[in-house]
Amino acid sequence: MAESSRITIIVLLSLIVIVTVLLWFNAVLVPYVKVFFCPCNKTRDSSAQQVYRVSGNLEQHEVYEAEIVETVYIVNDIKLEGIEQNRTHQRPKNNQQCTKVRNEDRFDCDPEGAITQTNCEKRGCCWKPVLRLTVNQSAGIVPPLNVPWCYYPSNYEGYKVNKVYNTKLGLNADLIRTTQSPYPEAINDLTVEIRYETQSRLRIKIFDPATVRYEVPLNTPDVSQAVNDTLFTVSLSKPTERFSVSVIRKDNAVVLINTTGASPLTFCNQFIELSSFLPSSFIYGLGEHRGPLLHNVNWTRYTMWNKDNPPHEKANLYGSHPFYLVMENDGKSHGVFLLNSNAMDVILQPSPAITWRTIGGIIDLYVFMGPTPGEVIQQYTEVIGHSFMPPYWSLGFHLCRWGYKTANETLAIVEKNRQAGIPQDVQWNDIDYMDSKKDFTYSTEFGDMPAMVNTLHNKGMHYIMIVDPGISNEFPGNYGPYDLGIKMDIFIKDSQGKPLIGKVWPGDVVFPDFTNNRTFDYWTQLVKSFHDKVQFDGMWIDMNEISNFVAGSINSCPKNSIEDPPYVPDVAGGSLRFSTICATSQQNLSISYNVHNLYGLTETEATYMALKTVRNKRPFIISRSTYAGQGYYGGHWSGDNFATFHDMAMSIPELLNFNMFGISMIGADICGFQLDTTEDLCQRWYQLGAFYPFSRSHNSVGLKPQDPASFSQDLIESTKTAYMIRYSLLPYLYTLFHKSHMMGETVARPLFFEFPQDKNTYSIDSQFLWGSSLMISPALAKGTTSIGAYFPSGVWYDWYTGGAIHSNGSVVKLEAPANKINLHVRGGSIITLQDPELTTTLSRKNKFSLVVSLDDDGTAEGDLFWDDGDTIDTHTMGKFNMIRFHSSKNIVTNNVMYAGYTDEPMLLRSIVVFGVLQKPSTVKFNGMAISQFTYDDKLHVLKAQGIAANLLKTFTLQWV
Ligand code: GLC
Repeated sequence: MAESSRITIIVLLSLIVIVTVLLWFNAVLVPYVKVFFCPCNKTRDSSAQQVYRVSGNLEQHEVYEAEIVETVYIVNDIKLEGIEQNRTHQRPKNNQQCTKVRNEDRFDCDPEGAITQTNCEKRGCCWKPVLRLTVNQSAGIVPPLNVPWCYYPSNYEGYKVNKVYNTKLGLNADLIRTTQSPYPEAINDLTVEIRYETQSRLRIKIFDPATVRYEVPLNTPDVSQAVNDTLFTVSLSKPTERFSVSVIRKDNAVVLINTTGASPLTFCNQFIELSSFLPSSFIYGLGEHRGPLLHNVNWTRYTMWNKDNPPHEKANLYGSHPFYLVMENDGKSHGVFLLNSNAMDVILQPSPAITWRTIGGIIDLYVFMGPTPGEVIQQYTEVIGHSFMPPYWSLGFHLCRWGYKTANETLAIVEKNRQAGIPQDVQWNDIDYMDSKKDFTYSTEFGDMPAMVNTLHNKGMHYIMIVDPGISNEFPGNYGPYDLGIKMDIFIKDSQGKPLIGKVWPGDVVFPDFTNNRTFDYWTQLVKSFHDKVQFDGMWIDMNEISNFVAGSINSCPKNSIEDPPYVPDVAGGSLRFSTICATSQQNLSISYNVHNLYGLTETEATYMALKTVRNKRPFIISRSTYAGQGYYGGHWSGDNFATFHDMAMSIPELLNFNMFGISMIGADICGFQLDTTEDLCQRWYQLGAFYPFSRSHNSVGLKPQDPASFSQDLIESTKTAYMIRYSLLPYLYTLFHKSHMMGETVARPLFFEFPQDKNTYSIDSQFLWGSSLMISPALAKGTTSIGAYFPSGVWYDWYTGGAIHSNGSVVKLEAPANKINLHVRGGSIITLQDPELTTTLSRKNKFSLVVSLDDDGTAEGDLFWDDGDTIDTHTMGKFNMIRFHSSKNIVTNNVMYAGYTDEPMLLRSIVVFGVLQKPSTVKFNGMAISQFTYDDKLHVLKAQGIAANLLKTFTLQWV
């Protein structure tokens, strides 16, 4: 080789080495040098920030420790320049970054599917197909059904932290995207805002600081100052590092949220993804979905896009509740709420980990620290609103069906059930009452509808009818609700600005836009003019997902990326517009693409305001479609279920979930809506339905009747018994609703809420509790004559006999004859009852009695909230009574906490004490020996009767 060539090669090689070193220095060292060593940066912005570093074995996801590792100085402009020009798809730096990812920790880099190896690798992701095993339970294989083939390498960057700084509310970080995004319209600069809102509430917002994006207008608490002394710490990656955030429980260092090592944050205009490891696999919530209470983390997807969809597994249903609750391994609990109303998929995978994948809005994540599950729900409902206070009558039995042809037929059914001795408070009508299915009208067949409602009122009953949102546009000039809507310009518009036309029961319809303030006025006018004719007491708002019998509109939808986004969550029907309106429809607040999931909520709010104005009593609304915050205005039923044992069993997780979502007034159609029911199913379902917070029997058109009186005497008797128990328990149930309204407590709750240390309770959804004191253990399978019910540790008393079960956490076999539902009262509680009647109007006038269930140490306590049952805001006005009861050392007494409601006497008639181990020789009431008492020395039950006392005065019952 010539000397000159050799020199050229040496020069070239040297140049390459120098350039490489310089590049490496620039890329890797410069930022650190600037952050940690450059004094100029310290002086430029002298505010210091403590940084927490999470340590532990990330591979194993063991408990991590959090400690303050250093104080960094905040810099304003780390040298990340040049990124704009150089942002490319990142590649795994070496094969290890792919191979070291365990199957269960693979985060999907190809959620839209059908990607090829070439495209996967172009995205900078790892490609490794796995054998998809089929389930072989007998061989004990838990199959990796959904392990992604294309997944993120462990070093995938996405966003880097550019700057971290303190704010009044906590801490902010600015992020910059360093690699190219797999999706279009990436937002390259983001702000992460960390707000320390309360001791137990943290809020993490990730948004585009340059452009205002859609945010859910939920009225959440305003916080102006960060709180110290929190139950959590937050760890953020340092400037120049890949963005990650962790939330750590301070007292035990358990990491509740940990995005380190999960899929990288993605934030594009129509694709936003955030993943986090979970501290345990005990995860609940994420509604509205059909399935067991405890989720399966073995690759499951929960899609949220409100849809008229009869409840079935693996499908998006009527409502969206992007909230989960986790039971941590030591029995503590936390909750997370993503305040985002766009269509989304939520993925659970076995790591365990969760991925939030939404197609719009921002990331606005609330974290609630509990530490008990009940406290998590209290903290969550503090943000979204506590449950409304229901009228007392709404706790009674509701009867409905689609297919009562006339007002007379409706009344005849009421009378038949009354004659059969079935308690009933509310009668309903479905769309049958309408003239040509048009809202706010009644047909000639229902010509005597006003008189029918008056008759019901005279019986001490109440009346509710259905109203759908679709307003017929087929009779312009002749149909007030349409004409007024056009005049007030309140209908949802299509992309051209004309009222969007869909199809529902009455034919072509337009839809009121409840995000427009004027629509509140419009709706109130319609409710008022109909109420002037028919004195209804509550409203059933249906079809409000919005349900539409054509896709999008009768004029189809535009073709663009709003209608067909780059990523479509796993919505039923495969497109956003399927059985609803176009995603491009315009509402006052935003396009339907953003606000679709809020339609039911905003309609419920407008209906609440209208009913309040028109009736001036507590509004009662049951809505099919819901979003977080629904419970503040109304309740929900689980929609068009089927008359099967499976559907009956699934109604329990449904009602427990909705209690976690802050909607205490919840029930399922008793006996099933679709399919002809059967007597054995319906008998069981009435027994269970008597313990739904919202207890309504409903049936579809053309099917066999299923009101209780249409069955045999045996079913009638067992239904009567179950409802007589419900009606006697109503003072207790009402008190639970009051606590739900005031403090965000659940009414129906899973066993694990009361026994969070008992892992056996974590998956139980065949039994549930009313409050903390009453356990309901229904028979859920065909032909059952006995059940195995789980009894958490403690003493439990049989409702019917008072016989005790002492358990240290075990399954007990209980007889379950066809005419009985098993009920147990928890030792340590005092429940207030009232003698039942056929309506609550009558039962409210009866005397009270107490069931005192002594704990092993001989103590018990309970309380009672009482008011007139229908006036708005009795609590604020001080027109209520609050009484506490307690028992210890053989004495039961009361403590009148507040006595502001004296319009009706509150007389006590009897006290039953379970667990009196020794036969008393004397029983005294207010110091005087009484003769009317009995003692069962086998069951250890003492009954003191013939008591005449005012509950608002202090009393004592003593046995010696
Ligand atoms: C919807 C409702 C159902 C009602 C029917 C007719 O399917 O979910 O409850 O009976 O519409 O209005």
